[in-house]
Amino acid sequence: MNSVSSFVLIILSLLVLAPGCGKMSDAHNGIAPSILSAPAPTDNPTTLEKVHLGQKLFFDPRLSRDGTVSCSSCHNVMSSGGDNRSVSVGIGGKTGNRSAPTVWNAAFNPVQFWDGRAATLEDQAKGPLINAIEMGMENHEAVVKRVLAIPGYVEEFKTVFGDSSPISIDTIAKAIAAYERTLVTPNSPFDRYVHGETSALSTQAERGFQLVNQVGCTSCHSGPHFMGSSDRPNFAQFPVNANSEYVAKYRLAEDKGRGALTMNKVDDHYWKIPTWRNVALTAPYFHNGSVPTLDEAVRVMAKVQLNTSLTEAQVQDVVAFLNSLSGEFPKQELPRLPDTPGITLVTP
Ligand code: HEC
Ligand code: HEC
Repeated sequence: MNSVSSFVLIILSLLVLAPGCGKMSDAHNGIAPSILSAPAPTDNPTTLEKVHLGQKLFFDPRLSRDGTVSCSSCHNVMSSGGDNRSVSVGIGGKTGNRSAPTVWNAAFNPVQFWDGRAATLEDQAKGPLINAIEMGMENHEAVVKRVLAIPGYVEEFKTVFGDSSPISIDTIAKAIAAYERTLVTPNSPFDRYVHGETSALSTQAERGFQLVNQVGCTSCHSGPHFMGSSDRPNFAQFPVNANSEYVAKYRLAEDKGRGALTMNKVDDHYWKIPTWRNVALTAPYFHNGSVPTLDEAVRVMAKVQLNTSLTEAQVQDVVAFLNSLSGEFPKQELPRLPDTPGITLVTP
């Protein structure tokens, strides 16, 4: 595809994040007009009550075995939606080997996790609760038991899901996913530029936008979120150029990505093509968080994916463009969590 047609494609697909588009003002589902939300699956419509419940669960450390870790510990929605660490710290100070992606705009991911092992936000949310190095609950029944022991939640689940759908791992995941669908960041300078506000992009960022088309970054990062392309909808090989010195320097080939999941050699070193939206805010970079700065991530990508060396000025142009993809963050307020008067649910 030439750069003009991919430019048109990007513009057309950007309508997804157009200002006001996707605003859930429908009185029928009870969402306040001010809350933007990503499209929801038919079996989990977004409602205001569900979003509020999901937000509480997202912030509640009692959903971890020893009461120390919540989703927000690693996905700080007061800022980047990640933790800006190479690898996250979970229960008992344990660390894994992958970096926490942002939850901002995760609702638009065609697949979740670096290796795409969850198809939906609902599926994804069930994982960390029982991951031994994240929230460490014994099993999903133990999670349900915790939530059932908090009277305020019992009431809220009734209001949100009705008497016929009691508290279960599915309704817990649905509420959390509904909250995550409100974590969208529209109106980045680039969106405003595409909608006609030509002064929203600096000439440097404009040059960077041209460059990512010219050198071929957009053969992978394309569409409204600069994730997959029509040729490569979800996944791509990384590193492509395994001989680059960057591969050893940043340990880019140690983890087999999808190959470790499917145990199929053809998937070795395939990874989800991550979004460029807010990428300027989510350092360090790559699945292992090994690259500390955005300029270095751009140099690495040019070399290991496209076997190209960019000049320093070109790197800065691309970085300026990537910075223009930081959107507007809807204000988050810490929710008041329901109490358990007279007892604690978390014992040492
Ligand atoms: C201990 C840190 C930690 C906790 C706690 C945690 N996460 Fe994550 N999260 C991660 C890491 C690390 C990954 C990437 C793992 C991978 O891809 O293998 C991830 C991936 C994700 C993704 C996928 C995003 C993408 O772009 O692929 C979502 C969504 C997410 N987490 C939401 C949640 C929710 C909801 C909770 C609470 C139920 C939660 N996380 C708890 C660290 C954490
Ligand atoms: C062949 C496909 C492909 C091409 C071409 C490509 N990328 Fe990537 N990009 C990926 C994949 C896959 C990842 C995830 C790598 C990983 O596992 O950490 C990625 C990750 C990134 C990241 C880090 C994102 C994060 O959240 O850590 C940045 C920044 C990036 N690419 C920018 C670029 C730029 C700039 C270019 C062009 C110079 C480019 N990419 C070319 C597939 C590609």
